[in-house]
Amino acid sequence: MLQVLLKDTISVKRGLSPITFIQFGTIRYRFHTNNRVKKTDERKLLLPLPPTYRRDRKDSHRLLSTRFTMPEISQRGFEMPASPIRKLAPLSDAAKARGTKVYHLNIGQPDLPSPRAALEAIRNIDRTTLEYSPSDGYRFYRENLTAYYRKYDIELKPEEIIVTAGGSEAVLYAFMACLNPGDEIIVPEPAYANYMAFAISAGAVIRTLPSTIESGFALPHIDDFEQLINERTKGILICNPNNPTGYVYTPQEMEQIRLLVLKYNLYLFSDEVYREFIYNDTPYISACHLKDVEEHVVLIDSVSKRYSECGIRIGALITRNRKVHDTVMKFCQARLSPPLIGQIAANASLQENGSYMQHNFDEYKSRRDFLIERLNRIPGVYSPMPQGAFYTLARLPIDDADRFCSWCLSDFSFEGQTIFMAPATGFYVTAGLGKNEVRIAYVLNKSDLEKALVVLEKALEAYPGRR
Ligand SMILES: Cc1ncc(COP(=O)(O)O)c(C=O)c1O
Repeated sequence: MLQVLLKDTISVKRGLSPITFIQFGTIRYRFHTNNRVKKTDERKLLLPLPPTYRRDRKDSHRLLSTRFTMPEISQRGFEMPASPIRKLAPLSDAAKARGTKVYHLNIGQPDLPSPRAALEAIRNIDRTTLEYSPSDGYRFYRENLTAYYRKYDIELKPEEIIVTAGGSEAVLYAFMACLNPGDEIIVPEPAYANYMAFAISAGAVIRTLPSTIESGFALPHIDDFEQLINERTKGILICNPNNPTGYVYTPQEMEQIRLLVLKYNLYLFSDEVYREFIYNDTPYISACHLKDVEEHVVLIDSVSKRYSECGIRIGALITRNRKVHDTVMKFCQARLSPPLIGQIAANASLQENGSYMQHNFDEYKSRRDFLIERLNRIPGVYSPMPQGAFYTLARLPIDDADRFCSWCLSDFSFEGQTIFMAPATGFYVTAGLGKNEVRIAYVLNKSDLEKALVVLEKALEAYPGRR
């Protein structure tokens, strides 16, 4: 199959300029005008083939001919991974179209209501023009944010806060401002999958260090970090509390990271969008608390999770480093403005008294306790106790999590219901890791969570690839 496809491709390609990259499995081929096929890259690329390449032998010739009449998509676009959280969505849509009830355990979309003050503020918007806001966000909002951070012992000036379109934009601009193409950042894996996508956008390279389910996904040993550091290493990226593992870094681990940052003069990108949700006694140590690395730290933040406000697209990039700040601002100026209405809602959310946060905290904690206890009662299933955020990575008695998650949506239902989980492979970069793990988000009420767990247990009993 591979050879025939290549032959067809070459015959179509003859005489055209050498622009084509085609990937088969983990190997990418480059085509030259002399029609020699050159293997260029054996790195693992976590990509499905673009649809134009996914042809069977019969019609490959015709479809490839069509493709060659079109300009090529960018190599960067080709390398962008599909979201492991959303890629099974078509199967879920099909299950729903068949009338199956799908429990969404796949996505970190909080189900709890947004603060009433935010909804009121949107209802009462008293403006005649919905204008651009300043590129770094409204000053009144940034001033109010300083009071919010002070509650966590983080002293900031409004000039050190840049309002972004979600934490997502903050990660992207942090990378764009601090990293050159080819620069490396070290990230403990499993990791929030979009870091990989943003690194590709910036041309940066993510080097990962595996953490293991057996250790509850604790920070890998510091020597392992040092082994990865080379002249291209520019930073360390942590997510604390962690998505997807729920791990919260201990003061000792944060100190180790601090020493590494100092010793090798690195940036420390710290994504702390889940700081409100730390359920154990582990104290919250922000990267902004660390001494002597103040200018190395780029903090990523968002209101999406803390106020259940994913849709208003408000986040923040925080840096005490003026050069980084001014560079990030150039990207912000190019995109003009963070969302106006989102800032109004996020600002109003800051007035929310403690009872709103307390209620959400208690709810997630009680779901976590329930979920982990129930998961570990299912034969062959293991989940460590996550200390924060609202996810867990669980190990299942299965051959392949991607296959199992797809199978649950397309081939299985129990009493008209099924489950949508995120295969953990998408959160790892190292090939083969997470093959029997899934990420489960506890963003369903307890009653639905309970039903979803019954479905999971039944699915595991019925799954042909059970181990
Ligand atoms: C760890 C982490 N960082 C950043 C984000 C980005 O969130 P948003 O762009 O909605 O602020 C998410 C979203 O799930 C996340 O889990």
